[in-house]
Amino acid sequence: MPVWAFPHHFSGNAHVYFMNKIVTLSLSMLCCFGTSCRLEAQSLLPKPQNAAFQKGAFSTAKPFAVINEAGDMARNLYTAPLIENKSADGKGRAAVFRKSDTAKGREAYRLRVTADSIIVEAAAAEGFLRAGQTLGQLAATASKSSAAPSYPCCTITDAAAFEWRGIMLDVSRHFFPIEFLKKQIDVMARYKLNRLHLHLTDAAGWRMEIKRYPRLTGLGAWRTDASWKKWWNGDRGYVEEGQPGANGGYYTQAQLRELVGYAAERGVTIVPEIEMPAHSEEALTAYPEYSCTHEPYKQADFCPGNAGVYDFLENVLLEVMDVFPSKDIHVGGDEAGKASWGNCPLCQRKMREEGLKDVNQLQASLIRHFEQFLESHGRHLIGWDEIIEDNLQKNTNVMVWRNVDESKKAIAAGNRVILSPGKFCYLDSYQDAPPTQPEAIGGYLPLEHVYAFNPLEYFNAEELKSVRGVQGNLWTEYVPTPEHAEYMLYPRMLAIAEIGWNGTKAKDFDDFRRRALAESELLRGKGVNAFDLKGEIGERPERDHTVKHNALHAKVTYNAPYGKPYPAGGETALTDGLQGGWTYGDGRWQGFIGKEGLDVTIDLGKTRTVSSVAATFMQVCGAEIYFPASFSVAVSADGKAFKEIYLSENTVEKTDKPGFRTEQFKGRGEKARYVRVKALPGAFGGWLFTDEIIVK
Ligand code: ACM
Ligand code: ZN
Repeated sequence: MPVWAFPHHFSGNAHVYFMNKIVTLSLSMLCCFGTSCRLEAQSLLPKPQNAAFQKGAFSTAKPFAVINEAGDMARNLYTAPLIENKSADGKGRAAVFRKSDTAKGREAYRLRVTADSIIVEAAAAEGFLRAGQTLGQLAATASKSSAAPSYPCCTITDAAAFEWRGIMLDVSRHFFPIEFLKKQIDVMARYKLNRLHLHLTDAAGWRMEIKRYPRLTGLGAWRTDASWKKWWNGDRGYVEEGQPGANGGYYTQAQLRELVGYAAERGVTIVPEIEMPAHSEEALTAYPEYSCTHEPYKQADFCPGNAGVYDFLENVLLEVMDVFPSKDIHVGGDEAGKASWGNCPLCQRKMREEGLKDVNQLQASLIRHFEQFLESHGRHLIGWDEIIEDNLQKNTNVMVWRNVDESKKAIAAGNRVILSPGKFCYLDSYQDAPPTQPEAIGGYLPLEHVYAFNPLEYFNAEELKSVRGVQGNLWTEYVPTPEHAEYMLYPRMLAIAEIGWNGTKAKDFDDFRRRALAESELLRGKGVNAFDLKGEIGERPERDHTVKHNALHAKVTYNAPYGKPYPAGGETALTDGLQGGWTYGDGRWQGFIGKEGLDVTIDLGKTRTVSSVAATFMQVCGAEIYFPASFSVAVSADGKAFKEIYLSENTVEKTDKPGFRTEQFKGRGEKARYVRVKALPGAFGGWLFTDEIIVK
């Protein structure tokens, strides 16, 4: 049993008086959330395609009959013995489950609730399941003294916009117990999310028992530090299972099989990911013979020139397929360094034999091998979008994480795609003002930005047919505990659920946020550690208004250039009045790299009295962005002879949290036309970022 169970089964089983017998309904998804239930009909999340609500409600406190015309298909709604007799013993009141064809897909359903009836129609078990999930959200207790829920009168016609609505959990960087996964599946089911992608292998730990290769978990699942950050910045060592100082864990095949069943009952498919050819330090320390150099602790990439590697990975995948019935099997394929392949005799020989012109083609050859292998077992390969370069076959799925536009290439080549672009779907980014949040990988991705993702903006109608759906990814380098994982997942996952189920034709963030807030409160009340959306601070306030000052739109001369990747507004960025938000990538922050740091001269256009010169700097140590070690201001009447009027020096210190610091000269007033501002990096080097030089 999960430590925490979302009430999958009808929490207060309705006793239905029928033919003088008490029939216990297990309207499994008609779940109610105790006293926190709402009757607010418009609060469904994800929003149904069509819904109309009327006055009144169907109360289960009064007798009603259950008439199941859909048989086993409706088992999620009703698991009591079939009731053939449609007599009036329900006193004219009934819940009716009926098979009805629809062109809208297996998950489509229709639901009609009146004071005397609930009619659920669907063409497949999946549709009845989704209808039950909607009823679960509609359920409200009539009164505190009664456990019997009631359902508001309504007509709902609903179907999934996208077939794939997923969450990726990285259980390698930090290992989470199986009970935690069940809890997330319960939450996913409430929001009609239907794929749980488990990132089961990576340098930080191999998490699935493989019977044929016990050292994958015997060594590869255990590391020298519980904290990924400490481990990654430390020795990156592995420890034998059961030895002192071994941190980590893995799932047994029996546990995973049970998890698969648990998820299936709730309409969730578990999609396993086994990384290849890269991100495999743990496997290649446990089995060094499968890297090019055979050295433990040295290699991240399998040797694609070694025939034994194919046997090894095939044997692993055979066990994976035996445990996971998912049609789609993820093999990673991202971020291969390929460094050892150029000097490896086996790799070189394979390249010669197959006429491969570079190491990229060698990766392509490996991916093609496993495409064929999986197809020969009736499965389809999924890989991260690097595999677009790999001459894919038709049934291959590309999981997009970098640039959505790039995925058009895959679609044009006949492949299907699943969208999880970092810009919208990487839930390891900060969800609120970074200085107030636990350390995250960087960036700023509040609920509103996730919700803003709109696949329709990228694809035409024809291309959209090849978009299977959307997925939120939670990488866990900076997510050390299950509680923290929930904090990062919710409520942002709800935006993925809404986009995936409802589509994006009727986007309305205010309406969505209202529903997400109610759901966040409900989740928090049920012991899910969702981020407290009602306390959200939001974007850095400076970003929202233009700052007026004496150097606004003044000409800026760069004595040292700004860094090309972070131009912000280019030559006008520092005097355009536009200040930056919480993240350096938002197009407002200008970056400077190199020992000259920031060095600019501002022409005020005429001689003015300068009494303040200020610039704000950002520090995000994980991204090698630091505060300056010195900040100086000099003034000049002619732009040639400068007089330094201010110098501040600081020791740069690393911090876990991003920070902002304003450097400022303040004086009684200096007459000048030119102002030269310099900021120099400290001992760590790295980037300096500033958004505006404010002269008053
Ligand atoms: C990825 O983020 N490397 C898929
Ligand atoms: Zn090799």
